[in-house]
Amino acid sequence: MLSIRTSLNKIPRTQLKLCVRSLSKIALPAVPTAHAKPGFEPYFTASYINGQAVKSDSKEWFDVYDPATDVVIAKVPQSTEAEMDEAIDAAEKAFQSFKKLSVIKRMELTFKYVELLKAKTNELAATIVFEQGKAWSAAIADVYRGIQCAEHACNVLKETEMVGLEVSTDMETKTVREPIGVVGSIMPFNFPVMIPLWTIPYIIATGNTTVIKPSEFCPGTGALLAEIAKEAGVPDGVINIIHGKAPTVTKLASDPRIAAVTFVGGNNAGKYVHQTATKHQKRVQCNLGAKNHVVVLPDADKDAVLKGVVSGAFSSTGQVCLSTDILFLVGEAREMIPDIVETVKQLKAAPGFEDGDFGPVVSKQSLERIEAVIADAEAKGAEVLVDGRLNKPSGEEFKNGYFIGPTVLKGVKKGMRCVDEELFGPIFTIVEVPTMEYTIDYINKNEFGNSVAVFTQSGPAANKFTKEINVNQVGVNVSVPIPHAAFGFTSNKNSFLGDLHFYGPTAFKFLTHPKTITTSWKNMEHHP
Ligand SMILES: *[C@@H]1O[C@H](CO)[C@@H](O)[C@H](O)[C@H]1NC(C)=O
Repeated sequence: MLSIRTSLNKIPRTQLKLCVRSLSKIALPAVPTAHAKPGFEPYFTASYINGQAVKSDSKEWFDVYDPATDVVIAKVPQSTEAEMDEAIDAAEKAFQSFKKLSVIKRMELTFKYVELLKAKTNELAATIVFEQGKAWSAAIADVYRGIQCAEHACNVLKETEMVGLEVSTDMETKTVREPIGVVGSIMPFNFPVMIPLWTIPYIIATGNTTVIKPSEFCPGTGALLAEIAKEAGVPDGVINIIHGKAPTVTKLASDPRIAAVTFVGGNNAGKYVHQTATKHQKRVQCNLGAKNHVVVLPDADKDAVLKGVVSGAFSSTGQVCLSTDILFLVGEAREMIPDIVETVKQLKAAPGFEDGDFGPVVSKQSLERIEAVIADAEAKGAEVLVDGRLNKPSGEEFKNGYFIGPTVLKGVKKGMRCVDEELFGPIFTIVEVPTMEYTIDYINKNEFGNSVAVFTQSGPAANKFTKEINVNQVGVNVSVPIPHAAFGFTSNKNSFLGDLHFYGPTAFKFLTHPKTITTSWKNMEHHP
């Protein structure tokens, strides 16, 4: 694993300063390389309105914590009504000039954005580790997956090309795709760079403008991503960042100047956003909760299963909407339990800037929730095969961090929180089952449809599983089948509300309207 210190040392000092240049006025810290100690002077999270990093005038500021130490590192505002209006106005006005740019020019800007994102990978990753807590390698992956979306957005020429037909003699109809309008984006805490990049580069490529609300848990990457777009040459007002909690969500979902809304996050907020935006006649896409199952058949390759368990349940501390919740071991596959337990026991929760397998969870509430889920299972008779409560990093400095070690439960049943709720932490349950058919039936009855996987060496078994399962992101010998940017996210059932999915080819459809133009080219005998 790449250590933060070595990789940051590779960036020349002067370039590091340049990265935070225009934000330094409002005290964004220099790129962090270590966790915050008590006494750390918190910085004010920048908003970004009409091409400027600005400090909010708000009287209401929330604390942002370093999850590894529980020290307050930043303040994030509840943006004022006036600031939210200013950001939406800026987005609306920016369109007047931005729409005049040809698609070729917008593609060029998108390419430049990709180039600058790559150059600033370490800076973005360091902000993720500091505010969100994940391990350095996971933060790099967060940025990298986002950059893949930005690269895909460069396909704008092909994805929005006009199509035409001669519909009768000397009469043609063509369809052109025009940008939909200002897009409001509401972001979750778990991928502070990747998920904003499900939107920003596609906005640049299709010619619309956006107002984004980052998660209040880790808001710092928002202004950085907007700043990088400005450096790429994206006009002022195209990418705006505002902050806050419910009032900001309501504003973005209901303001008449906003044409479309994207949301990634929890069920209740997502349903509210979907209903509110729909009521206000907006186009909307919402990614919500999940309950992800991984099915291991007796013929599965054991090494592949062990690797799949580790990445499926523990990457990004299990705070991934595709993380493994339940591992179904079919028949003889139960013989893998001792090896699974041994493998999981080797994993270490550690501060993100230090060497470990995964970082703390994002908040104290999250930690308390996961500990309560374990206690609930234990009280109702489950076996705790690996107990993360006993496996936290040692030392004074990190004793208040939101750490929980890898956890595996067994002997679980419905009525336990670990079965009924999404886990969103470094924890999963093992369930022994008789047949693959049993798992297909069980999973199909589950209300969510985010991710599922089967481990087997049998082509016919894998084929049957992928055909019969009603979950639209399926892995075969792949535990986290998140589709590459070229395909787009395809979650279903209660994991998704809307019609057009995130990133990939449907992103271009979500962000544009089709317009048909029918022209008569008939020769009326009096041409010059
Ligand atoms: C993964 O699945 C395919 C299809 O069933 C199979 O051919 C392949 O051998 C499997 N790979 C591993 C590592 O188990």
